[in-house]
Amino acid sequence: MSVGQNIRHDSAVSHVTGESIFIDDRPRLQNEVLVGVLGTPVSAGKIKKIDYSDALKLKGIFGIYTAKDFAHNKWGTIVQEQPIMVDDIIGYIDEPLCLIAVINDEVINQAKKLIKIEVEEIKAILTIDEALMAQSFICKATPFIRGDVESIFKKSPHVLKGVFECGGQEHFYMESQASIAYPLENGQIEIHSSSQHPTETQHVVAHALHLDFSQVVCVVKRMGGGFGGKESQAAQFAAMAALVASKLKRPARLVLTKDDDMMMTGKRHPFKNTYEIAFDNSGKILAFKSQLYANGGAYTDLTPSILDRAMFHIDGCYYFEHCLIEGAALRTNQHSNTAFRGFGGPQGNMTIESIIEDMANYLKIDSYEIRKINLYGINDRNITPYGQLVDNNVLPEIFNKLYVSSDYKNLALEIQKFNLAHSGKLRGLSMTGCKFGIAFTAKHLNQGNALVNIHLDGTVQVSTGATEMGQGVNTKMQQIAAGAFGIPFQKIVMMPTSTEKNHNTSPTAASSGADINGAATLLACEKILARLKWVAHLHFTGTVFNDKDELPAFVHGAVNTDHIIFENETVRCSLTNKKMTWIEVLKMAYFNRVSLGGYAFFKTEGLGFDKKTLTGKAFNYFTNGAALSVVEIDEYSGELKVLRTDILMDLGRTINPGIDIGQVSGAFVQGMGWVTTENLFYHENGKLLSHSPTTYKIPNIQDTPREFNIELLENHSNTQNVLRSKAVGEPPLLLGASVWTAIKNALHFRSKDQLPNITSPATNEVILMELSRYE
Ligand code: MTE
Ligand code: HPA
Ligand code: MOS
Repeated sequence: MSVGQNIRHDSAVSHVTGESIFIDDRPRLQNEVLVGVLGTPVSAGKIKKIDYSDALKLKGIFGIYTAKDFAHNKWGTIVQEQPIMVDDIIGYIDEPLCLIAVINDEVINQAKKLIKIEVEEIKAILTIDEALMAQSFICKATPFIRGDVESIFKKSPHVLKGVFECGGQEHFYMESQASIAYPLENGQIEIHSSSQHPTETQHVVAHALHLDFSQVVCVVKRMGGGFGGKESQAAQFAAMAALVASKLKRPARLVLTKDDDMMMTGKRHPFKNTYEIAFDNSGKILAFKSQLYANGGAYTDLTPSILDRAMFHIDGCYYFEHCLIEGAALRTNQHSNTAFRGFGGPQGNMTIESIIEDMANYLKIDSYEIRKINLYGINDRNITPYGQLVDNNVLPEIFNKLYVSSDYKNLALEIQKFNLAHSGKLRGLSMTGCKFGIAFTAKHLNQGNALVNIHLDGTVQVSTGATEMGQGVNTKMQQIAAGAFGIPFQKIVMMPTSTEKNHNTSPTAASSGADINGAATLLACEKILARLKWVAHLHFTGTVFNDKDELPAFVHGAVNTDHIIFENETVRCSLTNKKMTWIEVLKMAYFNRVSLGGYAFFKTEGLGFDKKTLTGKAFNYFTNGAALSVVEIDEYSGELKVLRTDILMDLGRTINPGIDIGQVSGAFVQGMGWVTTENLFYHENGKLLSHSPTTYKIPNIQDTPREFNIELLENHSNTQNVLRSKAVGEPPLLLGASVWTAIKNALHFRSKDQLPNITSPATNEVILMELSRYE
């Protein structure tokens, strides 16, 4: 059985040897052109004139294109309002304005200098506050209301009010946005893209060029990371490559430079959330009120869904009996913010974790005790503010187990002693949780399809809508198919994702890639298996095969074929103990004209949240976990070290523990980076100044916790998902917040009677400034 085993990632070897093919590794064709993108010079205003006549005279230039060259220049996943290239109104600085098609990329920079742009600049709206002043909204969400909030506030012993603020985050995938478009016959385009959403890329390319969807094929072999940044925004750049290809009738390659990618593309949404919380002397939450504000940037993109997910996660792991949760997204003159691992969930979850840390400091009770008494209950106190039952709730078990295994109590005592004994170094600890809802909140996206082809040498090709971005979805599907047929995983080959094999696919997102596509793969395998069992049954019973027979009833499940067992590359009849090999049954099927291909469709059952009535299930299930982090601060420099992190995650019955632990550690470190060093720094004119690895600091190996313990909880109860597994991709990112709350915990040892008050990211500078406030 390969399911549940530590099978290596299907690209592990080729990544290490350098043989893995990313977009820019595709060999250049002789007549191919390269495409560069010039961005707008200001954050807001109007384009008066673009003069590229001088640039066109350069040797090696094939053409310069603008908005006017597109049949349709608008795209957008939810609202089709975003220009592929700026037409007249500028949404943000460095927004794509001109495409430059060249033979070698040195000419791109020369051309950029020769293009003259006249603009009529207006004052830009850059922050949430400025947008609020200007009443510049992208959307307002339907609030979640429960109980009797106002009267509880009036009679509560304690009320804290405040603002939680967190910054954005750059995806920092290793492969920038990248596409190559190949013009085919009859106007058709084959586009190879680094995209999480081949179907949307297909649609946006087709619409931009006025082609039928059926004239465009989008192929995705893999991405060098996506992290949400290629869910919607890959499509825009693919459309640019496709435009040049169709204009010049040459293959066109567009691979953004790191700097252009960082300046032009959207990031995680910064949030600024106001709140009021009422609680009793023990720290039990009595009522909660919050107004979330997201900075959506210039266009709608996925912002409404991200705002929703932030609201769905502001409860964290904690029960709010009385609550009012409101949300709005602001339109600003910034890159259009987009999906980023967690999709608003981290911004919501961290708000309540921050508040609980404040409650602890205010009440002088350890924050763990406050978290513990507010956790969702098993038999009661288990309905979320949006009306979903938290069933199979393992949160109390997880928090308790981690408390014991980390020896929390003694750690906390040691830290207290350390802080009393030392000046110059300050330590803190905190445990935070994760209850991440699994499903696309847009119900229609919870569907997928799979195509499985078996070849006569016993090897199998699997194609689904899932895209591989490093997360290991291909490996999991390999294991699922291998498990179904009882053959070694090496016999299963995952094919590049392509819109001609799998249609109308959902993005590989919402952590549900393996859930949805794995389930579809299993169904497709089971369809073939039913036929093969028929063939084997006839053979074992000595029945002459008659291919005039309709596929008999047991293919459709009416006849029991449990006695035919596929394992270890053999097919066995448990009644007669007769056997044949996997290849023999395939040949027998083929020569008797029985199909060795399978196609299946899967949809997640039981979903259907109604915003108006707050009823119905928003999520299929929750992925839970908790993390304890210990940090050390240098009081003279504000420098931060994470001394230790312990994580306990519930991933159901894991398909591949090695890959899952990789996802947990990667997501945690990415979350930790978001709340500590990853500071997006903008000039006052709106220009992103931290647009390269030299100025934007993601965690490196020395920043990861010095001691890093990750355990998975044994849990086989998740019947909601394929093979009882649970989604892993995004949830552990939320746990990065434990580093930030641990910083708050450390600061409280010096903050005297004040509550530590920091924003996220808590850079060294933020920490030092906060310490100076206590002097
Ligand atoms: N892991 C790697 N190595 N690279 C990535 O780009 N993206 C994350 C997560 N893990 C990502 C990753 C995000 S944002 C999501 S939604 C999931 O993977 C998507 O894949 P899955 O649904 O197959 O888990
Ligand atoms: N999560 C991630 N990506 C998405 C979602 C979601 O809920 N909805 C649409 N795209
Ligand atoms: Mo992940 S943010 O859902 O692509």
